[in-house]
Amino acid sequence: MPKRYRDIVGDGGSNILAQVEERQARLRTRMASVRKKVAVTSGKGGVGKSVLTANLAAILAAEGWRVGVLDADLNGPSIAQFLGVRGQRLRLSSDGVHPAEGSLGIRVMSMDLFLRDDRAPLTWEAPSPQGSFVWRESMEASALREFLTDTAWGELDLLLLDLPPGAPRLPALADLLPDLDGGLVVTIPSEVSRLVVARAVELARTHGVELFGLVENMAGYLCPTCGSTGDLFGGEGSAAEALGLQPLGRIPFDPRIASCADRGSPYAVEHPDTEASQALRELAGRLRARLSPEGGAR
Ligand SMILES: Nc1ncnc2c1ncn2[C@@H]1O[C@H](COP(=O)(O)OP(=O)(O)OP(=O)(O)O)[C@@H](O)[C@H]1O
Ligand SMILES: [Mg+2]
Repeated sequence: MPKRYRDIVGDGGSNILAQVEERQARLRTRMASVRKKVAVTSGKGGVGKSVLTANLAAILAAEGWRVGVLDADLNGPSIAQFLGVRGQRLRLSSDGVHPAEGSLGIRVMSMDLFLRDDRAPLTWEAPSPQGSFVWRESMEASALREFLTDTAWGELDLLLLDLPPGAPRLPALADLLPDLDGGLVVTIPSEVSRLVVARAVELARTHGVELFGLVENMAGYLCPTCGSTGDLFGGEGSAAEALGLQPLGRIPFDPRIASCADRGSPYAVEHPDTEASQALRELAGRLRARLSPEGGAR
């Protein structure tokens, strides 16, 4: 016979429950002004989640969407760099912490904006060294909830959440943010990436998280000098079909994608006429169609 939490802990539990309910209510209120929430995810690290998030944000913002980006990678934040807002001072008002504002009005929140020393790693103080991993997980979840709730996002058409690598990240986010619309899964055409991503996809499905489809990044090499393309990993083939996901696009490797990201200037805006930018725009178009079948931002 299952027991309710309140039956076990008695009256003391009502305080805790009230606090949890209050936190959830504050999150719901904040998120009510955000029309769509989409996570960019992959089980695998280093496949281009952050750089794709930054470019998608820029393309949609250039089309008039009001876009916010939450860097959900607390330990390895890169979105502030990729969107050129590193070092911006955050303003506090009675409405919360105002996000940094990048070009095209993209609103950005990231742990990076709070860490003053470039070399300082983020550490969580655990009550005991033995408990540090469990503690870290729950501290990260509450930090993320606070970023979502306490940021004065304002009215947004889309909030993109750039997740850190790891299969459980998307299910954990969906628990935190029940009205998450879905996830874009990113992989690269290598067997090892597909294996790791397949596990993450399976876990997300088991958890009932909506997956919009698969983006294959670094799909072929695009030479910026001669414009020719070639294989980078050799594992070309329909990864989306193998994973049972909608194919959303194949983005070639172009060294300028990395150099633009490092300079904080979205590649798709700086080099609109390349094959990779065309592929990024098609990806954005598919996401837009999925989120607004009628085609408009709202
Ligand atoms: N299509 C591409 N062409 C060229 N460089 C790319 C491409 N995609 C990603 N990169 C570069 O590869 C590196 C890794 O990309 P990124 O940081 O976006 O990956 P990630 O999946 O977010 O990594 P992490 O798992 O650590 O968060 C970055 O330097 C980025 O600029
Ligand atoms: Mg990243």
